[in-house]
Parts: sequence; structure tokens; C-alpha cells
Amino acid sequence: MRAVVYSEPGPSSVLRLVERDLPEPGAGQVRVRVVRSGVNPTDWKQRAGGTYGASPYEEITPGQDGAGTIDALGPGVSGVAVGDRVWVHMAQHGSAHGTAAEYVVVPLHKAVPLPAAASFDLGASLGVPAITAHRALTSGPEADRLAPGTLAGRTVLVQGGAGAVGNAAIQLAHWAGAMVITTVSSAEKAALATAAGADHVVNYREDDTESLIRELAPDGVDLVVEVAPATNNDLDRAVIRNGGTIAIYANNGGDELTLPVRATFSLNLRYQFVLLYGVAKELLAAAVEDITAALAAGAIGVGAEHGVPLHHYSLDQAAAAHDAVESGVTGKVLIDLA
Ligand SMILES: NC(=O)c1ccc[n+]([C@@H]2O[C@H](COP(=O)([O-])OP(=O)(O)OC[C@H]3O[C@@H](n4cnc5c(N)ncnc54)[C@H](OP(=O)(O)O)[C@@H]3O)[C@@H](O)[C@H]2O)c1
Repeated sequence: MRAVVYSEPGPSSVLRLVERDLPEPGAGQVRVRVVRSGVNPTDWKQRAGGTYGASPYEEITPGQDGAGTIDALGPGVSGVAVGDRVWVHMAQHGSAHGTAAEYVVVPLHKAVPLPAAASFDLGASLGVPAITAHRALTSGPEADRLAPGTLAGRTVLVQGGAGAVGNAAIQLAHWAGAMVITTVSSAEKAALATAAGADHVVNYREDDTESLIRELAPDGVDLVVEVAPATNNDLDRAVIRNGGTIAIYANNGGDELTLPVRATFSLNLRYQFVLLYGVAKELLAAAVEDITAALAAGAIGVGAEHGVPLHHYSLDQAAAAHDAVESGVTGKVLIDLA
């Protein structure tokens, strides 16, 4: 099979397209014929080195997310069949073999049934962004699961609503019944966030963000899904309600966060930090279940009409695909394998 690999960290030029043997699924595993590989910031950050320490593997095929069809079953696997359509998440976590290859072997729980109505493009866009968004949205006391109505009467502020995680957070919060306010940096991104289902969009570069959010949520927002805490913490504190939750999943805009202690405890705030790779397996399973339900309900989508423009690359353009994500392209970068 054809696979993209790298043997040492570095710029995208370390990625090579090679031939490798077809991997065989072990006990409890399935082999997936990959149709789309979804590219996330974690893929280029890990490849570039420095984020997760030294790699235990001599060679890595990148790619946590993907979609395709089950191609072979390992011993002891039941309940699924060859040919079943699946979306794959976190394939390369704890493994050297990700989705930037024609086939990938994963434990059965990482290959989730993809409803017939959901495209492979959509399936490959779910994993990291949607699970992260789910974990952020279930960080507060309001809802530990997402379903229609679980966030009814709540107001969620999604910082950076045109980002991949931000978009997924808007779509899931909207499905769960929240009023969703989001921030973006341009009119184009505002249109995408609206298409994703945001009720209100604020341009954080041009508008009086704090006043506008306060007008929209006079009692304060219940939950903030935060991509840039170092930049936004003062704003978050200014617009959140007493007892609200700030869920932080990224360090865009700065690595250090300084808190005014009294002003923070005076608001009884709760901060939930989120790193997908350390989330408890029960919470991951709940996220996968809820996301699958949202998928089945047609509540999650990709493409510009859902606020997620798609950018397709071929397997031999994997380096360009990584570079596109690193440069902050708006939308979802996909590698097409079939
Ligand atoms: N912790 C985890 O488990 C986890 C999981 C997934 C992703 N991440 C991390 O999360 C970050 C985003 O990932 P992504 O895939 O969503 O990337 P993305 O699609 O590139 O989106 C990043 C978004 O952040 C927004 N942003 C940056 N600074 C902002 C600010 N001060 N206020 C509001 N929005 C701001 C950008 O919007 P503007 O251009 O409009 O500012 C952009 O839309 C990355 O750093 C990624 O590594 C972490």
C-alpha cells in the first residue's frame, strides 16, 4: 500500500510517500481502507516535534482522523462487517500508523459506523475537532452529555467560531439547544460561523466585543469554549456569569495565562483544560456516541454551506496539506485516497 511516513521531526519536507506492506489487524482490531484522511493542527505539530516529547517510533504515518470502509476483521471482532462505512478517530494516538495511508489498522472502538447519508468528507472531519468540542461543551455543570435540549436555555460563547474546533462547537451547541455567540476576525468568517449555526457573531477585531456580548447575554454566558485564553481571559471574565465555566483547549495567542485571583474566585469560575489525548475513555466514548447521534440527525455538516470550506489534497501532496493547516487555512483540509 502507499503510505506517507516520516522518520525524524521537522518541516513538512520530512514527509515521504512510500510503499509498505498491507497491515494485518490483530485481536480486537479492524483494517480500514481509507477514503479520506482529515488533517488537524496536531498532525503538523507532532511532525514538527516539540509538542509531545521524543517519539518511541522509528517511522510514523501521520493522521489521527479519517473515513473509509472496513476491509478486514481481526480475531474476536464481531458486530461489524467488511464493507461497513466508518469514521476513524485518534488512529495515530498510541500508534505509529495514522490515516495518511491507503489502509490503517485501529481498535474497533476507533472505527465508528458512518450513517449512509454522511459523506466520507464529513466522516474524516469529525474526530479531533468534534470530540474536542464535545468535551469542552460538557465541561460545565449544565450538561455531561449532548442531545437535543441538553443545553436549552444556556448561552455558549465560542471564541474563534470559524476554526475547525470552533465550528464543531457551534454545530454541537446549536443541536443541543444553546444560544450560541461566537467571535471571528472577518466578515467572511462571520458568514461561515452563521452557516454553522451561530445565533450571534461578533467581530473581535472591529466590534466592541464585551459590550455586544453583554447586550446579548445580560446575565452572562454560561460556558466559554476558548481557543486563545492568554488573549481572551479578561474578556471571558467580563462576559461570563457567576459560576460559569471556561473550557480551554488551545494556546493560540500565547502560552502564559495570568489570572487576577480575587476577581476570578469572586465569580466562582471553573476552568476546564482539555487535551484530547488525556481525556478519560468513558468521556471519549460518550463524545463518540453523541457525535454519532448528531450525525444521524443530520445536525453536523461540512462544506461552505455548513461553515467548513473543504480543501482536498492527494496523498502525494501530504506536505502541502500539512502546510495549509499550519498556515491557518479556514476550513477542513482532507487528503483523498480513493
Ligand atoms: N486540546 C486539544 O485536545 C486540541 C484539540 C484540537 C485542537 N487543538 C488546538 O486548537 C487550536 C485550534 O485548532 P483548529 O483545528 O480549530 O484550528 P483552526 O481551524 O486553524 O482554528 C483556529 C481558530 O482560532 C481563532 N483564533 C485565534 N486567535 C483568536 C482570538 N484571540 N480570539 C478568537 N479566535 C481566535 C482563529 O480565528 P481568527 O483567524 O478569526 O482569529 C481560527 O479560526 C490549535 O492550536 C490546535 O492545536 C487542541
